[in-house]
Amino acid sequence: MNPNSLIEQMAETKKRTVLITGSSTGFGRRATTLFLEQGWRVIATLRNSEDRIQIFQEELQKYGEQIQICSLDVTSSEEIQKISVFIQNKFKNQLDCLINNAGYAQVGALEDLSEEQIRKQMEVNFFGTVLTTQALVPALIKTKGKIIFISSVLGITGMPLVSLYCASKYAVEGFAESLYHELKPFKVPVSIVEPGRFLTEFGSNILWGMRSFSQTSPYKESTENYKKFKESLSHAPHIPNAIQMAKTLVDLAEMKKMPLRVRCGKDVQATFWLKRLLPEWMITRIFSIAFQKKYYTLNEDK
Ligand SMILES: NC(=O)c1ccc[n+]([C@@H]2O[C@H](COP(=O)([O-])OP(=O)(O)OC[C@H]3O[C@@H](n4cnc5c(N)ncnc54)[C@H](OP(=O)(O)O)[C@@H]3O)[C@@H](O)[C@H]2O)c1
Repeated sequence: MNPNSLIEQMAETKKRTVLITGSSTGFGRRATTLFLEQGWRVIATLRNSEDRIQIFQEELQKYGEQIQICSLDVTSSEEIQKISVFIQNKFKNQLDCLINNAGYAQVGALEDLSEEQIRKQMEVNFFGTVLTTQALVPALIKTKGKIIFISSVLGITGMPLVSLYCASKYAVEGFAESLYHELKPFKVPVSIVEPGRFLTEFGSNILWGMRSFSQTSPYKESTENYKKFKESLSHAPHIPNAIQMAKTLVDLAEMKKMPLRVRCGKDVQATFWLKRLLPEWMITRIFSIAFQKKYYTLNEDK
């Protein structure tokens, strides 16, 4: 055998493999490119990959076999199963890192949401994360691979009009923290990343409550205020972009010892420390005044 091709083959087998859910946009998309640049093999998963393969055109040309694009709607048991079989067959059941990133925000007051919207939020952000992880744990145990969960600042504090999103991220936090201990004997490290506000497609992918903007909703004006506030942030220069999160994810995946939690962004750091240092009654009061002012008293100003 040609010694050069042997060296190439050895380098190829030494490449680590990461699977990212929700890699079509935002954090997942940026992380895909950065992992490839760092020499990782990336299984970039997204919904309906066949129709959207052009999203990765540049990477496909540049990295060839180093990137594998697969369909994965995290709410589809069938697709989760297919991914697990794909990893068994193509990668001999070896996976060095799983990044549970797929998610969206269902916004709207509880009364304005349909049952379907409520269930869907948990189905994608929580059950999708749980079932994807469950299917890939054997491969991760085999490789002593890492699991990274993307939570949110709203996984550490509640906020009006996003109760379901908060619930889904709090659920992810409890699940991931338990798994941290459960998988420790198997040397599978688990980490939870808590991003604050970042500029991605997240804002434009928000789903609003079925009745959020209806004249009959008592929350109509506060939801409109929330929407205006969100829109005003979409070009705010102080908000970090997805590249910084992608760097955090690559750093974590390459770290010898991952911490259980990583907070990304000044807003999440501030929230965390305020909640930690102030008595609960005080921080609840501060947050309550801030939320009332931002979303509710705006109406009275009119
Ligand atoms: N950006 C922020 O400020 C922020 C802050 C805190 C936490 N987060 C969290 O960070 C993660 C990534 O968000 P992002 O900011 O990168 O937003 P994004 O640009 O909207 O990306 C979300 C990704 O999730 C995918 N997704 C949604 N539903 C899915 C499903 N059923 N199956 C598979 N994939 C699905 C989307 O795919 P499609 O293209 O198919 O819709 C997209 O690729 C989310 O979990 C979000 O909750 C974001």
